[in-house]
Amino acid sequence: MSAPACVPVELGPRRYEVLIGSRLLGELGTLVRAAGLKQANAFIITNAQVAAHYFDGVRASLEGVGFTRLVRHDIPASEEGKNWDEFSRTCAALLESFPDAGATPLVLLLGGGVVGDLGGFAAAVFRRGVPFVQLPTTLLAAVDSSVGGKVAVNFGGVKNIMGAFNQPRLVVCDLATLATLGPREVRSGSAEVIKYGAVCSAALFEQLERGALEKLLALDPAVLVDVVAQCVELKARVVEQDEFDKKGIRNVLNFGHTIGHALELSADYALTHGEAISIGMVAATRLARALGMVDDAFFTRLESLIVRAGLPTHFVGAPGLFDRIKRAMQLDKKFRDGRNVFVLPTRVGAWEQRENVDWALVDDAVRSVLDA
Ligand SMILES: NC(=O)c1ccc[n+]([C@@H]2O[C@H](COP(=O)([O-])OP(=O)(O)OC[C@H]3O[C@@H](n4cnc5c(N)ncnc54)[C@H](O)[C@@H]3O)[C@@H](O)[C@H]2O)c1
Ligand SMILES: [Zn+2]
Repeated sequence: MSAPACVPVELGPRRYEVLIGSRLLGELGTLVRAAGLKQANAFIITNAQVAAHYFDGVRASLEGVGFTRLVRHDIPASEEGKNWDEFSRTCAALLESFPDAGATPLVLLLGGGVVGDLGGFAAAVFRRGVPFVQLPTTLLAAVDSSVGGKVAVNFGGVKNIMGAFNQPRLVVCDLATLATLGPREVRSGSAEVIKYGAVCSAALFEQLERGALEKLLALDPAVLVDVVAQCVELKARVVEQDEFDKKGIRNVLNFGHTIGHALELSADYALTHGEAISIGMVAATRLARALGMVDDAFFTRLESLIVRAGLPTHFVGAPGLFDRIKRAMQLDKKFRDGRNVFVLPTRVGAWEQRENVDWALVDDAVRSVLDA
């Protein structure tokens, strides 16, 4: 292990560090102890796919620093498993494994965004909160979902509607784990990277345009650590200003997500999160263009990065999809009293929130991504 990059998330008493590097899981025990986590018990939430590659290493490393009891709990390996029933089963396993308040475990979340979101929520509610560590193993979880403390499950056909704010004590992002990730999942994670560039950082966007995108997709080690650290930095700075999503600042991270989330659920899991968000960013940018907020050049640049990443810009679904998306969008957590809210780009690296946008323009933007 070479020295990891370290991005602190400065949240006062909830401050923590995001460690980014290669082969960090082998040193996990040491890193956990160095973060001041002294537990002797661990509850590791993961899934069979990820565990097959990484669980033994994690266990050995934790046992090496004195963890005496390790319980592994698997959840399904897809978005379909990010639901209330799985959450409930996870809580039941926590209670069954650790019924004694004196033996509260450290919860470790080994996997992608699904494990991180569901597991972080279970850690939030078990005994009103037990410490947890994020161990992201997808590009998406590395650059986005493992940082910031939003944890949730889908419920009643709405993405992330049951959840909490619950910051991890530590994030250990071992980029070597991405070697076993399928190419579709790597592309999916790159959608969030493009998102950060498009609305938070012109420098990152231009770096991707100049060829870093292809190197990222090829998991070039130097580019990977640099880009992941930039994204985590960007997210950390946003979260520090608006931890509880009350000031509108954190909404920037939702670029492409209003239409994207609605599409993700309405498409019956045919799209990964990153794929749905790519299409959502295209639709949102069309909306921004219709509102005169961005020029055609912005649209072309964004679309071309999405295409270069091998991500979709439209989705041909079953009849009735438009109506399902519209219904799902009405339940968006940003909408208030029937007024819609969209995060829209103004130029590369900048954004504005628009409320009460003419629904006819929204409909046009949604329709524009639903045909070939
Ligand atoms: N909390 C947040 O702030 C936030 C931000 C963005 C996205 N999300 C959520 O994240 C979820 C998407 O996360 P995701 O894209 O990581 O998907 P995921 O967790 O479903 O993982 C994708 C697939 O990759 C497999 N996998 C994971 N790591 C692997 C590895 N190293 N080797 C081999 N296979 C591996 C998983 O088993 C799964 O089948 C969505 O539910 C989304 O809503 C949350
Ligand atoms: Zn996202």
